[in-house]
Amino acid sequence: MANPFTPTFGIIPPFMAGREALIEELSSAFSNGLGDPNLCTIVSGARGAGKTALLSFMASEAESQGWITARTTAAEGMLEDILDQALVSARTFLDALDGRKLSGVSIGQFVSFEWDNEAPRVGNWRTQMNALLDQLAEQDIGLLITVDEVKVTVPEMKRLAQVYQHFVTEGRKVALLMAGLPQAVSALFGDDDVSFLRRARKHVLGRIPDGEIRDALLLTVNEGGRSISAEALDEAVGVIDGFPYMMQLVGYRMWAENPRSEQIALADARHGIELAKREMIEGILEYTYRELSDGDKRFLAAMLPDSQDSSLAAISRRMGVKSNYASQYKRRLLAQGVIGEYSKGYVRFDMPVFRDYLEQRLKEEQE
Ligand SMILES: Nc1ncnc2c1ncn2[C@@H]1O[C@H](COP(=O)(O)OP(=O)(O)O)[C@@H](O)[C@H]1O
Ligand SMILES: [Mg+2]
Repeated sequence: MANPFTPTFGIIPPFMAGREALIEELSSAFSNGLGDPNLCTIVSGARGAGKTALLSFMASEAESQGWITARTTAAEGMLEDILDQALVSARTFLDALDGRKLSGVSIGQFVSFEWDNEAPRVGNWRTQMNALLDQLAEQDIGLLITVDEVKVTVPEMKRLAQVYQHFVTEGRKVALLMAGLPQAVSALFGDDDVSFLRRARKHVLGRIPDGEIRDALLLTVNEGGRSISAEALDEAVGVIDGFPYMMQLVGYRMWAENPRSEQIALADARHGIELAKREMIEGILEYTYRELSDGDKRFLAAMLPDSQDSSLAAISRRMGVKSNYASQYKRRLLAQGVIGEYSKGYVRFDMPVFRDYLEQRLKEEQE
């Protein structure tokens, strides 16, 4: 039986754990249309939190509601890419309409002539986008632009923000869904050239409650045609620790242990978990660790003596600093998704396997 888990960045999993409310809110924006504040949304989250998958999922959802989509990543050439993607999406969409004879001949002609990618383009990016949006407006078709890995240092991000503002004030049916690492998103909000984007709805893709991870794991296994023992499920949920990428890694590895047996047993889970931990380190934690400042590391090291939650008071004492100084690092680490604050003044590690990895790294660095 084929392994149903998707431990690959950017792939939409068979079950999106813990995002139901957000997906519903964003979906309803496509039916509400103009004026719905969710039409301009930015999601932030750590590497592996599920940003790209969410963007893809929402783009498909928008298409199913009759919108066309342009999916891009923030980089040089992104504006050209948005136009190309929008044209391709519009053509596919209108071809399908035409095929079902739901629309007039004129659309077909229009698609083959004026939207031909080979045709010379006239005017600047905004003019060309307007020409497309005018045509879409005739059919009341909206355009969703998704921008992954936002980066304020990409000059075209600024141009996009500017032009998007014009689209909105002109009452065009457009939506903008962006995603990025927390640091990149706060840098974007801090830049006056893109101040319009500060109005975007902001969502943080944080830790997913264990219950929802459990449901999604079970559903994925069952839909894949197998079952899982209660003990195996418990251990997996514990190790996954609410983290989407880890859910896919653990699921994939424990499935692959004995793919032909009807049930995933505890031993399969245990061995799969060991493999998944190593991949979690290589795929996420090494990068995250590299981005930490010395102060961040000192803060995290001061959390290690506690088995679960650490109080800010204890952390500052161990660091030998005032608590408002330690708070600086707390804010940074919270934003990066490395730690979470689940009761006031207390923090804990918020990425699976990070505590063990940190202990090992710090020991290596002392040697
Ligand atoms: N809500 C979710 N539930 C379960 N798995 C998810 C969810 N969102 C994403 N994933 C999985 O997690 C991994 C990372 O997702 P991705 O969207 O690439 O993260 P990011 O873009 O934030 O780094 C992928 O393997 C993906 O299939
Ligand atoms: Mg991504």
